[in-house]
Amino acid sequence: MRILAIETSCDETAVAVLECSGTLPVPEFKVLGNSLMSQIHIHKEYGGVYPMLAKREHIKNLPILLPKTMQEADNSDVDYIAVTSGPGLEPALWTGIEFAKELGKKWGKRVIPVNHMEGHLFSYMFEQSKPIEFPAIALLVSGGHTELVHVEDFDKYKIIGRTRDDAVGEAFDKTARLLGLPYPGGPKISELAEISRNRGGVPAFHFPRPMIKSGDLNFSYSGLKTSVLYTTRKLGELDLKTKESLAEAFEDAAIEPLVEKTRAAANLHGAKTLIVGGGVAANKLLRKNLQALADELSLDFRLPIQSLTTDNAIMIGIAAYVRLLTNRAESPDEIVARGNLDL
Ligand code: KG4
Ligand code: ZN
Repeated sequence: MRILAIETSCDETAVAVLECSGTLPVPEFKVLGNSLMSQIHIHKEYGGVYPMLAKREHIKNLPILLPKTMQEADNSDVDYIAVTSGPGLEPALWTGIEFAKELGKKWGKRVIPVNHMEGHLFSYMFEQSKPIEFPAIALLVSGGHTELVHVEDFDKYKIIGRTRDDAVGEAFDKTARLLGLPYPGGPKISELAEISRNRGGVPAFHFPRPMIKSGDLNFSYSGLKTSVLYTTRKLGELDLKTKESLAEAFEDAAIEPLVEKTRAAANLHGAKTLIVGGGVAANKLLRKNLQALADELSLDFRLPIQSLTTDNAIMIGIAAYVRLLTNRAESPDEIVARGNLDL
């Protein structure tokens, strides 16, 4: 079965055609066509994503990416069109939805709305050789979300912990701005932190680990950002070495609660598998520490390939196929953008 997938929830315009085969728990995916246009260079000067700018760019990009992707896929017929309907920036989501609906009408194909977070949740499936065992705990970490999910089956999952304020990716982005580093902050902070860590010695700074002892599975990242703000204000002009030390201290403080709450969630639910997804899943320290946790608790650790951690259309196609396989793929007459859509 072939699925054309469209993703426009934030600052990436992405289109992919997937050949999907097999069934759960180990479906197979082959990418026939895939293109992505990042708007990072446009949002860079603002240090974050501007919804109306994102919308304008998606409207411009989609008619370029569609023929390019279809050509890569030899213009082969598709069976379904999948489109992200939420969560995300509503003006951005609407552009993808309108585009998909029009295409669906023109081609006479069903349009399946997809939850972006299901895309992150199932992105590990792109490359796997053996079935996963349930229950699983999934840690979904991106620019907009920080969630722990109890996954009992491919069609049964529940959020058991989430951030009360900022998402962890957002904290990376805001801290980067305070350190005068470019958007998105994650990769750059991580790079500087690694330099400082490799230098060794006693860390020059220490930031509090938000909510680490809260006794629940929730997170909070606005306080950490404020701590970095006060520290940088006190320091004044920052040289590169100080930025590296601050990046290390921030990264340690941001990652530790993720790992510790994941540990608590896995113990609480007797998890056999640990899944991670979302842009922050690209973070090396997080991957390393989650791997160590998985080894310690004998969990099967599943993570997406690096290129599928940040937003892309392949994961939207995968999530649509999982919905089809579990008989949950709806094609309502009216697909609506829902900025706060939950898993
Ligand atoms: O999943 P994603 O592409 O978009 C959303 O759905 O939000 O995630 C983007 C987020 C950004 O906040 C970015 O700073 C963060 O992922 N990110 C990272 C890394 N690479 C991307 N955070 C930490 N370390 C990284 N290596
Ligand atoms: Zn995302």
